[in-house]
Amino acid sequence: MEDSHYVGREQSEVKHLILQEYLLPFALIIGRGHGSITYVDCFSGPWESASTTHEDTSFSIAIGQLKKARARLKRDGIQLDLRAFFIEKDRNAFGRLQQYAQKIRGVEINVRNAELEESIDDICCFVREANRTFPFVFIDPTGWKGFELDVIRPILTLRPCEVLINFMTHYIVRFANNEESKESFERLFGSDDFYNRLQGTQGSDRVDEAVFEYRDAVSKVGNFDYAGIAGILNPIRDRSHFHLLYFSRHPRGLEKFKEAERRSMGEMEQLRARAQKSGREQRSQQREFLYADEAPDSTYYLSLRERYLGFAKADVIRLLQAADRVTYDDAWNAWLRYPMVWEKDLKDWVRESSKIALDGLGKRERVPKLGRNHFLRFAGIA
Ligand SMILES: C[S@@+](CC[C@H](N)C(=O)[O-])C[C@H]1O[C@@H](n2cnc3c(N)ncnc32)[C@H](O)[C@@H]1O
Repeated sequence: MEDSHYVGREQSEVKHLILQEYLLPFALIIGRGHGSITYVDCFSGPWESASTTHEDTSFSIAIGQLKKARARLKRDGIQLDLRAFFIEKDRNAFGRLQQYAQKIRGVEINVRNAELEESIDDICCFVREANRTFPFVFIDPTGWKGFELDVIRPILTLRPCEVLINFMTHYIVRFANNEESKESFERLFGSDDFYNRLQGTQGSDRVDEAVFEYRDAVSKVGNFDYAGIAGILNPIRDRSHFHLLYFSRHPRGLEKFKEAERRSMGEMEQLRARAQKSGREQRSQQREFLYADEAPDSTYYLSLRERYLGFAKADVIRLLQAADRVTYDDAWNAWLRYPMVWEKDLKDWVRESSKIALDGLGKRERVPKLGRNHFLRFAGIA
């Protein structure tokens, strides 16, 4: 990805990086089992695209990664059919989207100049008309309207399917107390429960409660057992910009999403350091040197990571307090529901904790693994 297309909107670069890093392994895995993938971009754009070839847009990045997976699978003798559905309400943006789509070969593409709300039936029909296709749906709005929970319910309940939603945290939290927006927020979250959850909260607590409430609401409607959150920070300020929420019904999906998130977080910190440096240079009119291998100052990111590690530990401890033993799979799922924490953190914590014992490991097994009937329990309780 060329940085210059993203100057001043580094948050979009991180969003695209996560999409890019996730879609390739997703397509390689799904391609082997399903033979067909339908990529649905509900808010396609192009939006603030600085590239004439649209390489800095979600639809182009997605098609590129899916084609890459198809070529790799072909080498193994596996055929993967690719399909896409693009929706864009703005006439001008739609014109450019259509031009792009007309040039793409070997992918069945449907484009709509409409609002998402009026395209839901068509999306579901398009998905259902292909045999054994696996849909991946990307919902990337500019605010909190147009993808109300009841509107997207038919998409969330498609089986199979995976969904990635951009939750515009900064705006949502800022306007959450606004009396005029009350009704639209209730439609976004599907109920007024979030008011209770946000009541009396401030700062990071408020941000987290809004994101967790939305995660829980979407998981419930779509019956998604696995949800991941990537927190995308403002490039120049120490605060959240938006969160990408990922929903799946398979642990493998969450595993791959977390890998994509981890790689993108490292890149995010480099991009933020560069954006902040260039801001300082503009203000002082003096150049600063930043060596390529210089670690960025990630104090804020690391403070958030510590926060979520604390939440993840508390959740696993709660599970252990409620049952004699807890499967490693359940602990893993509880842990990875938080942003900026990884499976390695869970393994390290379990290894270093004198209070937690492992059951069910084979003679040669030293570390717990998913899907192996490994258990955690409080040490001393056999
Ligand atoms: C954030 S931009 C999408 C960016 C794109 N997904 C990307 O990452 O390159 C949101 C787009 O959705 C369009 N849009 C806004 N409301 C919409 C709606 N209700 N239905 C469909 N498109 C909408 C906007 O015109 C804009 O182009």
